[in-house]
Amino acid sequence: MEENMNVPNHIAIILDGNGRWAKAKGMPRSYGHVKGCANLETICDHMKDLGVKYLTVYAFSTENWKRSREEVEGLMKLFRNYLKKCIKIAEKNRMRVKVIGDITAFDQDIQDRIRELENFSKDYTELHFQIALNYGSRDEILRGVRRLAQDAADKKIDPAQIDEGLFESYLDTAEIPDPDLMIRTSGELRLSNFLLWQMAYTEFYFTDVAWPDFDKAELIKAIEKYNKRDRRYGGVKEE
Ligand code: FPP
Repeated sequence: MEENMNVPNHIAIILDGNGRWAKAKGMPRSYGHVKGCANLETICDHMKDLGVKYLTVYAFSTENWKRSREEVEGLMKLFRNYLKKCIKIAEKNRMRVKVIGDITAFDQDIQDRIRELENFSKDYTELHFQIALNYGSRDEILRGVRRLAQDAADKKIDPAQIDEGLFESYLDTAEIPDPDLMIRTSGELRLSNFLLWQMAYTEFYFTDVAWPDFDKAELIKAIEKYNKRDRRYGGVKEE
């Protein structure tokens, strides 16, 4: 890694390609998700080592319920295990974990595990780790707008005072700075309804590497590319 590397404060990742990665190995898609989950643990360690302060990952979208029952059940099982294990990981990395998205769609025990993990890790500040579960940016914006409109109807806020800052406080990402760099693995060149409001000025990095193969070297490559662009258009981030 280059000396004096400017490490992004917040990296957002669309974890894509688990299914294709597994298929290419003649294995079921669920195997890809298990490996993808293991890779997420490793990447969290690298983020902390590199000095990234915020990491947000897209693990399950509002559209992902349309996958086969078998695949959705496999993912729920994975989330259950991971959310439990994540308490230890949060402690080790001193990382604060938050889930963004509408978690009311999940079984009660999953919601309880999410609340337990968030509560357990709430005072850690080394790394802020956001997991997007049943997340869709349009859904997040609409949920926020409903609460905002209700607060206006209840006269808690005056519509004239609605600015970007106030609006952002109604999003799931309230108090989380906008991403500096968005990485999408596995070749697709889309945002897929991820952090649409928050990524208005974010740099994008797309790679053909599938998520289970996205390792520290690939992460550094993405950061180096971001650095080159940052230098070229520099000035703003240094403020
Ligand atoms: C995209 O690959 C991945 C997902 C829809 C699930 C992401 C889940 C994980 C990385 C594992 C668990 C994460 C947590 C937070 C416990 P895909 O299935 O769309 O792959 P494909 O595009 O090749 O079909």
